[in-house]
Amino acid sequence: MLVCQCNGVSDRTIRRVVRAGAGTVRQVAQGCGAGAGCGDCAETIRELIRADAAERQEELGDSTFVAVSAAP
Ligand code: FES
Repeated sequence: MLVCQCNGVSDRTIRRVVRAGAGTVRQVAQGCGAGAGCGDCAETIRELIRADAAERQEELGDSTFVAVSAAP
């Protein structure tokens, strides 16, 4: 899905940049150009950042559970 019309950036590309460490719209813009134009896509970028944070939290929770439950 195309998220940033100004720079032709898809949600897939934004997710990749966010997964690589971008945590703000500005950092995403620096990473792939999304959000660097009119700014109409900024809220969607924020949603993708929040979704990634939630996924990471879930992954961390799962690994913590595994580590604790595997302890002797
Ligand atoms: S649509 Fe992304 S900066 Fe304009």
